[in-house]
Amino acid sequence: MTDTAHPSANGIIESLLTEKRVFRPHPRVLAESAVNPADLKYAYETAQRTPLAYWEEAAERLQWYRRWETVLDDTKAPFYQWFSGGRCNIVHNALDRHITSPNRNKLAIIWEGEPGDTRRLTYFELYREVNKCANAMRKLGVSKGDRVLIYLPSMPETVIAMLAAAKIGAIHSVVFAGFAANALAERIADAQPKLIITVDGFYRNGRILKLKPLVDEARLHETVQALKPPNTIVIHRCQVTVPMDDAHDVWWHDIMRDQSYEAMTEPMDADAPLFMLYTSGTTDKPKGVLHSHGGYMVGVHHTFTQVFDNNATDIFWCTADIGWVTGHSYVVYGPLMAGTTTFIYEGHPLYPQAGRLWSMVERWGISVLYTVPTLIRMLMRFDTNYPLQHDLSTLRLLGSVGEPISPEAWVWFHTTIGKGRCPLLDTWWQTETGMIMIAPYPISLLKPGSVARPLPGIDADVVDADGASLPAGKGGYLVIKNPWPAMITTLFNDDTTYKERYWSKFSGWYCSGDIARKDEDGYIWLQGRADDVIMIAGHRIGTAEFEAALATHPAVAECAVIGMPDAIRGEVAKGFVVLKDLVQQPLFADEDEPIEQQLIHHVRAELGAIAVVGDIDIRDALPRNRSGKIMRRLLRAEIYGNDMGDISTLEEDPFWTTAER
Ligand code: WT7
Repeated sequence: MTDTAHPSANGIIESLLTEKRVFRPHPRVLAESAVNPADLKYAYETAQRTPLAYWEEAAERLQWYRRWETVLDDTKAPFYQWFSGGRCNIVHNALDRHITSPNRNKLAIIWEGEPGDTRRLTYFELYREVNKCANAMRKLGVSKGDRVLIYLPSMPETVIAMLAAAKIGAIHSVVFAGFAANALAERIADAQPKLIITVDGFYRNGRILKLKPLVDEARLHETVQALKPPNTIVIHRCQVTVPMDDAHDVWWHDIMRDQSYEAMTEPMDADAPLFMLYTSGTTDKPKGVLHSHGGYMVGVHHTFTQVFDNNATDIFWCTADIGWVTGHSYVVYGPLMAGTTTFIYEGHPLYPQAGRLWSMVERWGISVLYTVPTLIRMLMRFDTNYPLQHDLSTLRLLGSVGEPISPEAWVWFHTTIGKGRCPLLDTWWQTETGMIMIAPYPISLLKPGSVARPLPGIDADVVDADGASLPAGKGGYLVIKNPWPAMITTLFNDDTTYKERYWSKFSGWYCSGDIARKDEDGYIWLQGRADDVIMIAGHRIGTAEFEAALATHPAVAECAVIGMPDAIRGEVAKGFVVLKDLVQQPLFADEDEPIEQQLIHHVRAELGAIAVVGDIDIRDALPRNRSGKIMRRLLRAEIYGNDMGDISTLEEDPFWTTAER
């Protein structure tokens, strides 16, 4: 591990503040890229002059059942309606239309399981599987507007289930397979799905993780018991036995067996919901971010083809789990709408050794590799050792997303993996934005650690607490001043929080919750979150979720959680805990492990393996303001010092740490 990769203690933000290197595009990239500098200039100009015409042209590259009447209806803002009056279905564009094109027999999916087993599906095969699955869903009573909860790791059936749900107009809600039963139960209770799709188990780091039993455990929760019991389809993946209940459980292979290969694709209104994904914000419970068929389809197709300079011969690998938005947009929908081959891997990228990922790049001939800084930091520890053992010459583009990447990790990825000839695109976006918003093009000048400029048509800016645009070098809120097609349409069953969380801070503008600064060239540099969200390996978890989990432990009287720097994951949680009355403590002292360890394990059991608590600090009291609210900012100052760069414009703003509001 090179210490330079340590994000805060060694000053990731500080190193970003002094970073001056620039990388010009390789002449071959300039010559071969579909978008040349003149095109890009033209795109920026048209998008600036006539943004709606720009997005309309993007929509025309896809197929619609009925053309829209209005490109953007903003009469109910912030409930924007894109392509209103139009009828479409994203599955028609991701699948149906390829069946009558030369893509029919092209590979849609290449999948590799962790033990080394592989599967390949052509567009035609995927089409048939999706149709069978859509029929199975209809048979189980799922129809338009119903929710289908998909609790699966990254495997072909995850894609099949998502597309099948969308095909019949149901709303899919994929829950990351790393979440524990409690987190799952909370999402089931909120989404009230008609159907749950899961797997007996899957392989991760050489072990089999059973998933179906977690669904059974979630079913026992009070909030889930109160619902009409959903059916469960269970995929058979591993040699394990899991309990099946005839009342509502059915095997995937049993129900799929007799289904017909043909199924009608439901024509949907452009603004009809396509999927929801739960995301942490500052409120206590994660909320379901909703995306629509029409706008999402246009935004994702456009950004996928433009940013990744889509090529007919590409094998595209986005390493994100399908359970996150990156997986939805750039493992599933983006590549499939573009008719690209998408590569999916089941397991841990460093299993059974640290060369696994490079071996997959070599064996499958991956051409575009889109990944996260956490993984880059893990791989960088081995420097050239593993990469040099593999032929990585098929790579032509690299991408990064999810958290700030330190210039050191950027340069390592660019030189050791990309050999200086593959542009490395750092892309900024969010679950809510649905699509990439700020990113360079392959032909752009690159600055390590910066996400470059907003894409054409995206009006992003950095502003102070009053909404005034900030000069270069000053840190402030990152806002989006104009709607964009793939934008969140609302929060599931919660229009109020939607308005409040994203549109109340700056009237008429979307508030991202991030802090950033611009430089003299208008390049944007991210500095972290402005709200109480911790980014663990690029995954958002609210401090409130951690606190709620800690508070259920019988020894905890009160607690506060903040993010703390972690060399690999970027951030992990740090808990400050006041224990209950000393009299009760011997009870817990009986356990084998110290109370700090018990609490760390307790949170993991409540929330799942991604909820990493790095440290528990037992205190006598927590700092509070005059109205009694816990001052997380003071705790954070102890850990981070002034490592966020110049944020003098925000310091007086209570929005900063909402706990103090
Ligand atoms: C948050 C969104 C859709 C991406 C996957 C995460 C952070 C995202 C970058 C980047 C620095 C980034 C932001 C953002 N983030 N991309 N390139 N550089 N930070 O989606 O879970 O909705 O998280 O991830 O803080 O707000 P998400």
